[in-house]
Order: sequence, then C-alpha cells, then structure tokens
Amino acid sequence: MEYILNKAIETHNLTKEEIIILLNSDGQSLFAAADKVRQKYVGNAVHLRGLIEFTNICRCTCKYCGIRVENKEVSRYRMSPEEIISLAKKGSKSGFRTIVLQGGEDAFYTKDIMCNIIKEIKKFDVAVTLSIGERSFEDYKAFKDAGADRYLLRIETTDRSLYKNLHPNMDFDNRLRCLYDLKRLGYETGTGCLIGLPAQTIESLADDILFFKSLDSDMVGVGPFLPHSQTPLKDCQSGSFDLALKVMAITRLLLPDINIPATTAMETISPNGRLIALKSGANVFMPNLSGEEYASKYEIYPEKSGINASKSGIISEIEEKLHCIGREISSNKGFRNLKN
Ligand code: 5AD
Repeated sequence: MEYILNKAIETHNLTKEEIIILLNSDGQSLFAAADKVRQKYVGNAVHLRGLIEFTNICRCTCKYCGIRVENKEVSRYRMSPEEIISLAKKGSKSGFRTIVLQGGEDAFYTKDIMCNIIKEIKKFDVAVTLSIGERSFEDYKAFKDAGADRYLLRIETTDRSLYKNLHPNMDFDNRLRCLYDLKRLGYETGTGCLIGLPAQTIESLADDILFFKSLDSDMVGVGPFLPHSQTPLKDCQSGSFDLALKVMAITRLLLPDINIPATTAMETISPNGRLIALKSGANVFMPNLSGEEYASKYEIYPEKSGINASKSGIISEIEEKLHCIGREISSNKGFRNLKN
C-alpha cells in the first residue's frame, strides 16, 4: 500500500493491478495522498464554474438518466438563446470566470445557434465550457472557432459490453471519436465515469482511470450512480460514495495537475460530500446558475441538490465554506495550462 502510494506520488503512473489494490483499500491514506498532490500541483484555489442547464430535451437512451428520451413524465424545457446569454451575463457579473453550457442532446441548438450563443458569451471575458454531447467534428470545430474553450463528455464506462447494455442504439466508438476530436481541436477536454452501475466491476473502474490517463484528460468528473424512479434502473442499488471518492483520488494521483470537480452527485449521496471531495483531490466547484424553476426539471438523478447560485451573495457564502477547510476562491479562469 505504502509502496504503491509513494510510486504514484513520485511517478504518477500505476499498473492496473496497483489501481485495483487502491480501490479495494479503506481509502484513508489514498485520500490523504491525493490531497497532498492536489495541494502541490494546483494549490489551494478552488475554481468556480457557473453551470447553465439550458435544455432538458434529449435524444439519448442512457438507461440511468432521468431526462432520457423515453421518460415521458419529465416536463421538458428549452431556454432561448437570449435567456442563456442573459444568465451567463449575470453569472459573469457575480464573479464567475467560467460559464458551463450543459444540456441534453437537443437538435434545436444547431451549429449556428450554438456559435452565436458562444460568441455573445465570450464578450463577458469568461471561459466557455460546453457539455452538449456527441456532435460532428465540423460542429466541434465551429464551436471552437466561435470561442469555446473546454468540453465535457463523460465516457460513462469504458467497459464496452456494459456501455452497450446501458445505452441502447448508441455507439461507444462514436463517443471515443468525439473525445479524440475534441482533444485534437485543442479543447481542454473533460471526461469521467459513473461509479456503481449495475454489473460494473472494480477491474472496469481501474480501466476507466487508465483511460483518463491515456487520453491525458484535462478534467475528470466522477460521481456515484443514483437510481432514478422513472428509468429502467429504478430498482438498482446506488453507487458507493467511498468508491467514487477513491476513483477520484486515484485520478488525482495519476493526473496531478488537472481540474477535478467535487460533483453534485457526491453531495446528494453523502452530506458534505462535496467538501469531503475537495479534501480528497478535487479543486473545482460547479454551482447552478439556471434558477430553481429550471433546476428542478433537470433531474438526471433524484434529489440533485446543486448549489443555487442564481441568488445574490452566493459567492461570499461559498467563500466562507471554503475558508473553513483552508481553501479560497480562484480569481483566474482556471485553465489546466495557466493561460488565465
Ligand atoms: N446518477 C448519477 N449520475 C448520472 N448522470 C446521468 N444520470 C445519472 C444518474 N442516474 C451523469 C452522467 C452524465 C452527467 C451529466 O450526469 O454521467 O454524463
């Protein structure tokens, strides 16, 4: 155990077998090691990303997700470009240096519509992160040319047969293609996986971590699977908080300088989960700018308790909490490669 952690701290490389040993450990020394590596490489600053969930209309079939196309119970919404831009403006005025545009795979937002939104938001001197799923190379290129800086697309699982079972009519190879395109186009590229999916193994989680490393992912977001009552996985067990925390901590050891969010799913499954994550390798926080009315409809899993950042004074509230654990809010845009 000690040998493996020292090796990780010194070389940032581990074999699959070593990763499995860490995943099966109690986690305490792993979390401490990840916290140390986080402190050394990315310091005490926490980057805030203002999240706008602008559409819950989605063509995808992901069996775990509450806004999957087959869920007829969801009240669907789609923000107008003007509304998105105005929320982003408000976010930038309250101090967010990054705006994340996240949504279902909604064909309404064509290449041109997205490019226009990106161009307008870039006028507010913020970094723009997109999280809108699988698109063509041409679309990704156009978004980049319009000014988008980063892109989030979780691989969800690298286990091909599990992927196939959980994503009917979707194509694992296309998802990989997307991630490679994004990297090639110069996006800061984020990926990640779900922890505790039915039939997911520890071995496959080790493969997921090695995949993040081989992609040289610039951001990695992980969280426990939470069963949603209006999905085919409604009777399955939740993923474990501790296991999600371990995957996150090992990711920090192997990719020491990347951005890792303390995800909302961590908080949903465990009180103070996000603060615990920040003390176990994470350095990013993603409060929600959409407003309560929309946030309640963007229910990808139950009790998604995001921080509502649409009210005033939220940044100082967050700041207070961070100070309690010896951290501060970053004043820059928080790129992996410090271009500010
Ligand atoms: N539980 C936890 N996370 C989920 N996601 C989707 N559905 C669930 C669920 N039931 C995650 C996916 C997706 C991200 C936006 O939300 O990993 O990439």
